[in-house]
Amino acid sequence: MADGSRRESWASRLGFILAAAGSAVGLGNIWRFPYVVGTNGGAIFVIIYLIIVVLVGYPMMVTESVIGRSSKRNPVGAFKALAPNSLWWIVGALGVLTGFVILSYYSVVGGWSLAYVFRSIGGDFGSDAGEMTNLFLGHVSDAWVPVIWHLVFMGLTVAIIAGGVVKGIQRWVTVLWPVMGLLILVLVIRSVTLEGAGAGLAFFLAPEAPSQGWGRLLIDAIAQSFFTLSLGMGVFITYGSYLSDRDNIPSSAVAVVGLDTGIAILGGLMIFPAVFALGFEADAGVGLTFMTLPAVFATMPLGGLFGTIFFILLSVAALTSAISLLEVVTAWLIDEKGWSRGKSAAVLGAVIFLVGIPSSLGFGPWEGVSIGAIGDTLLDNYDWVANSVLLPLGGLLTAIFAGWIWTAKSAQDEANKAGQGLRLGGWYGPVLKFVLPLAIAFVMIWGIIEHFVS
Ligand code: TRP
Repeated sequence: MADGSRRESWASRLGFILAAAGSAVGLGNIWRFPYVVGTNGGAIFVIIYLIIVVLVGYPMMVTESVIGRSSKRNPVGAFKALAPNSLWWIVGALGVLTGFVILSYYSVVGGWSLAYVFRSIGGDFGSDAGEMTNLFLGHVSDAWVPVIWHLVFMGLTVAIIAGGVVKGIQRWVTVLWPVMGLLILVLVIRSVTLEGAGAGLAFFLAPEAPSQGWGRLLIDAIAQSFFTLSLGMGVFITYGSYLSDRDNIPSSAVAVVGLDTGIAILGGLMIFPAVFALGFEADAGVGLTFMTLPAVFATMPLGGLFGTIFFILLSVAALTSAISLLEVVTAWLIDEKGWSRGKSAAVLGAVIFLVGIPSSLGFGPWEGVSIGAIGDTLLDNYDWVANSVLLPLGGLLTAIFAGWIWTAKSAQDEANKAGQGLRLGGWYGPVLKFVLPLAIAFVMIWGIIEHFVS
């Protein structure tokens, strides 16, 4: 094991917040959140989601972060340090494996997004939704082009991670956050000021009865909170391991959750008014981002410019999420195997790139293309295993470990170490021991049954 005293720390309190919020903000906010809001009847989902974020997402984020800071290790090392001579390290190993799997296909989607920046600049977007569907299908089913963009995206991710915690991650998220913030504001203003934007605003914000029932709504809300907050695979254990004892975890987590939730709501305000104002369908699922939106942009004044801005935003958001996935895996090799950071990042990036290639090829040369909300390409299958099995399982075991083995009291004491700022109150113990495991087990079991029954 590497010498813990040489471990890097964030250069400021803001470093952790921006890096963690950068991990959280991604496709989950810009595409997935508006989409699940739409399919669950609008504002009623938003209200329940906010409650779930407070009750499930926030305590889970604090719990992962305190495990990281207390142990100052990657996920595998963290469980080894807190529960020596036990098998709990396997939970950390599950997290590292999950990061590996998610990044392999996340990078393929990141590559599509980069490619679409250039397609927008090149004037490839037209106002016909069917044509844009063909453009997308043509793009993803090509054998070479998407793989090359996947390589470019992975190369950028590796370059940032090889730079280190402060000179790589912190430096880049500090540059990229203002860029993201500005681009989002530009797009939201453009969208809500279009003529006819009101219908989209109503769809997104006016409460109606849950359109698929309360059970579905609750499950979607919990699953969305995990995905969008990057919980369940040790991102926060890893990023938390670079915190110092003076950092206040309960208040930093409030900032991260607040940023992520705020951007999700802005994501809805950006997408729905434009889609409705210009007469497109809002329930296009996965296709909304890459097929409907290019057509929407082509229809609006200065659409080429806004389309380019949108795909730059999407690429940046995906990149700051991808670096957190690679950091989890890299920290494991550094801590547990004693590799240098540069070598770990480069070797892992290369292997993950290779593992991701079949996900890209799965859209054309090998298999039929699926573009529905739940398709059957290799990428869809990886995505399903990661989101419906690996992340909830990781979160469930982490919550049980922290609440019952390490004990909720140790976790709470670690969280309250910093003298000032927000403190975790007495509510935390019962939530960690009962609410988290029950809520997560419910979603996981329901999701798996549903997958195989329907
Ligand atoms: N949170 C990211 C998003 O909203 C996705 C993501 C990045 C993620 N890292 C993760 C999800 C780790 C789960 C676990 O797009």
